[in-house]
Amino acid sequence: MMRWLPFMLAPLIGTAQAENIGFQDDVMPILNSYCVMCHLPGSEQGGLGLYPDAWARVVGIPSDQSPLPLVDPGAPDNSYLYIKLIDSGESVGGSGRLMPIQQPPLDPGQIETIRLWIEQGALQN
Ligand code: HEC
Repeated sequence: MMRWLPFMLAPLIGTAQAENIGFQDDVMPILNSYCVMCHLPGSEQGGLGLYPDAWARVVGIPSDQSPLPLVDPGAPDNSYLYIKLIDSGESVGGSGRLMPIQQPPLDPGQIETIRLWIEQGALQN
């Protein structure tokens, strides 16, 4: 009987991952805690401002450092903001360092939240 448990749990885990990510509830808290302090108006490091309206500053907006947009709705692997969480940016023709600098990398769950949000269309939800 117990050997069926993994098969019974698999669809539940699948459902959890497919849950809709909310920009306000799930993504903004990550940006506020780890990113906004260096990407504020007046000291927009790397030319990127994430305050007051981070969504409008990243979705469909070209990045300075690379040929990619910061966030390409539906395409995390073409979204420079996501790439900078897993790589310095050089893999896609960008430059600089892994974000956030002066801190440990985001944990895999936080990176996955941002990836899923972009994959689900980078909605302003
Ligand atoms: C301690 C300050 C600091 C923190 C914290 C920080 N950044 Fe940055 N960011 C920079 C600097 C400086 C640059 C430009 C140099 C570089 O890329 O290394 C930059 C560049 C970037 C760029 C490239 C912008 C472009 O248009 O090409 C992105 C995207 C970015 N940061 C996203 C983030 C995200 C997302 C976070 C939070 C997970 C974050 N940053 C946290 C300082 C910071």
